[in-house]
Amino acid sequence: MNDNNTLSLSIMSGKGGVGKTNIVLNLGYALHGAEMTSMLMDCDLGLANLDVLLGISPDRTLHDLLQTGVDAEDVLVAIENGFDMLPATSGVPELVEMDEDMQDILFKKLVNLAGEYDFLMLDLGAGISHTVLSFASLTQLRIVVVTPEPTSLTDSYAMIKVLVTQHGVKDFLVLVNQATSAGEAKQTFERLSAACKNFLNIDLRNLGFIHQDSTLVESVRRQTPLLKFAPNAQASKDIKGIAKKLMRYREDNLERISGRAILKDFPTP
Ligand SMILES: Nc1ncnc2c1ncn2[C@@H]1O[C@H](COP(=O)(O)OP(=O)(O)O)[C@@H](O)[C@H]1O
Ligand SMILES: [Mg+2]
Repeated sequence: MNDNNTLSLSIMSGKGGVGKTNIVLNLGYALHGAEMTSMLMDCDLGLANLDVLLGISPDRTLHDLLQTGVDAEDVLVAIENGFDMLPATSGVPELVEMDEDMQDILFKKLVNLAGEYDFLMLDLGAGISHTVLSFASLTQLRIVVVTPEPTSLTDSYAMIKVLVTQHGVKDFLVLVNQATSAGEAKQTFERLSAACKNFLNIDLRNLGFIHQDSTLVESVRRQTPLLKFAPNAQASKDIKGIAKKLMRYREDNLERISGRAILKDFPTP
């Protein structure tokens, strides 16, 4: 049982480069600002880059957690007090595809620690690799990040389709990123939502949108998270709004959350 009220989330997308890592990191900052604790896990095992956005080079990564006897606590990097992350390693081919045994080792080491936080957020790699799909089906919620680009929409649809038809996952929150207006964001959500309704018979939930904002691009260049670099930028405000929605969801569903494992199949002993 999960007695610690941790809400677990996967942040995912069909296509790469849509903003997942920036969103995860800045959501973590927004939650921290609201006195919520969170743990981010860099699960983009091919192109890990949470550490790059923070301008740090961690001594240990998930690779060490899997390959050596170290505990999750030893790999954890504190970003702020009560806001921690587990860094990954880029370009280690055997990690890009994790077999079930490795996944078992990883999550068993992780699940107790994760229970100490209000939120656990997994920054997943783009696409439909086995690792991505199985991680996504373990968390309580999934946030699919899409941009208004047609390729982002079609790739997101393809990813959702595989999760629905092969993994029995049916609930998704959609977050539109890099929208130039509320109208464009709405249209993007509605396109994806209509396709999922017509062909997969599922209802997507709209989590809202984040504006396209050149300040975010600048924050990436400076390796300083947007909420720290420009807390009043439009995209910062949008992300704080999304964090509030997630906090409200957690509050409203605490009873349900505490009755479920943080990661399905990995109940805390
Ligand atoms: N809201 C936004 N406004 C402007 N540019 C953005 C926004 N979100 C993401 N980007 C751009 O997209 C790039 C990729 O973002 P990233 O978070 O690394 O994507 P992913 O993790 O999905 O691959 C960023 O470096 C930035 O240039
Ligand atoms: Mg990323």
